[in-house]
Amino acid sequence: MPVITNVDDLKKIYKRRTPKMFYDYAETGSWTEQTFHDNVNDFADIRLRQKVAIDMSGRSTATQMIGQDVSMPVALAPVGMTGMQHADGEIKAARAAEAFGVPFTLSTMSICSIEDVAEHTTNPFWFQVYVLRDEDFNRRLLDRAKAAGCTTLVITADLQILGQRHKDLKNGLSAPPKLTLASIANLATKVPWGLEMLGTKRRFFGNIVGHAKNVENAADLGAWTHEQFDPTLDWKRIDKMVKDWDGKVIIKGILDVEDAKRAVKTGADAIIVSNHGGRQLDGAVSSIRILSDIVDAVGDKIEVHIDSGIRSGQDVLKAMALGAKGTYIGRAFIYGLGAMGQEGVTKTLEVIHKELDMSMALCGEQHVDNLNPNNLLIPKDFKISEAYDF
Ligand SMILES: Cc1cc2nc3c(=O)[nH]c(=O)nc-3n(C[C@H](O)[C@H](O)[C@H](O)COP(=O)(O)O)c2cc1C
Repeated sequence: MPVITNVDDLKKIYKRRTPKMFYDYAETGSWTEQTFHDNVNDFADIRLRQKVAIDMSGRSTATQMIGQDVSMPVALAPVGMTGMQHADGEIKAARAAEAFGVPFTLSTMSICSIEDVAEHTTNPFWFQVYVLRDEDFNRRLLDRAKAAGCTTLVITADLQILGQRHKDLKNGLSAPPKLTLASIANLATKVPWGLEMLGTKRRFFGNIVGHAKNVENAADLGAWTHEQFDPTLDWKRIDKMVKDWDGKVIIKGILDVEDAKRAVKTGADAIIVSNHGGRQLDGAVSSIRILSDIVDAVGDKIEVHIDSGIRSGQDVLKAMALGAKGTYIGRAFIYGLGAMGQEGVTKTLEVIHKELDMSMALCGEQHVDNLNPNNLLIPKDFKISEAYDF
C-alpha cells in the first residue's frame, strides 16, 4: 500500500480503480471547465502569513456549523451517484463522516436510499433536496427524510436545469453503467470495483426507483430524471420549503450578493457559496473569489458556508479566514471513497485535518474560530467587487 500523504495520492488510486464513466462524471466541469479550474487555482493564488514565537500548544479545529458540533468545519457535500464510485458508497462515506465528527449530506440522487443510510448510521445526517416537478414526490421525499431522522435540509438552488458536461454525454453516463463495447472494455480493467458492485443490491437511484410514479427500472429512470429538474423554481417556492421544514435549512448554490440577500429573507440558517463545483454555469466566478463580498453583505445575518475547489486543509483555512463559518468537500471525499472505500474517506478527512491544524499553527493561530483575513496575503483585485463593475 503506498504512503498516502495528500488528497492527490487518493485521486491517483481512485482513477486506476474506478470505471472511466464514473471518474469522468466526478472529474469534470461544464463546457470549457473554466470555472471548474478557477475554483482550485483561485485558492492557490492566496498566500498564508507565517507567524513565529507564538505558543502553539492546545490547538483546536473544533467548532460548530449551524449550531452542530463539528471536529473541524468541513462537511461532506451532496454528491449524486456516490454509490457508483464505490459499492455502498453513501453508507461508507456517512459512516466515515460520523466517526470523524463532521456532517454528511445525502444527495437526492444517491444510490443508497435515505432509509438505508439511516439504518447504517447512528447520528442524524443532512439531506439535500433538488426541487423536482413532481410535487407529490418531492413532498414524500421530505417526509421520508424527516422520518429517517434528518435534522437539516440542504436545498440546492442552482440546478433548475442540468449543466452540460461533455464527457458524460460522450460516455453515455448511467447507473448502473450501460454495456457498450467501450464500457465493457473499460470495466474489464476494473475487476475489484466490479466484484464489489456484484456483491451489493444497491445499484440504482435508491430514493427514486419504486418511489416515483412510473419508475420501476433503470430505463424509466433515465427519462424521469431528465424531465424532473424544475425550471420554474422561484424564491417563493424556496420560502415555502424553508417554512415547511421543521428543522435547520441551508440554501446551496449562492454566487451573487443580491441572491445572498434574498436568501436571508427565506429565514434559512445558512447559505452555501457554491458554483456546484464548476458543473453548472461555466464562466461563473469561483466561490472563493466571491466569498468576501457575500460575507460583507450578509455575514452578520446568516451563516455563510462555501464549497467548490477545496482540496486541502489549507483551502479550508483560507475560506475560514475570509469569513466562512463552514466548508464542504465534494470531489476530495470521492477520491478517498473511490480509492479505498470507507477507509479512504477517513483518510481524506485525516489529511485535511492535519493540513488545517499544522497550517494554523504555522500561521500563529490556535483556534479555527480565530482565523481572519490577517492570516492571508490576498492578491490585489482578488475580491470580485474590486475587480469588476458590479
Ligand atoms: C460527481 C458530483 C456529483 C454531484 N452531485 C450533486 C448533487 O446530487 N446535489 C448537489 O446539490 N450537488 C451535487 N454536486 C455538487 C457538490 O455538492 C459540491 O457543490 C461540489 O462538489 C463542490 O466542489 P468540489 O467538488 O470542488 O469540492 C456534485 C458534485 C460532483 C463532483
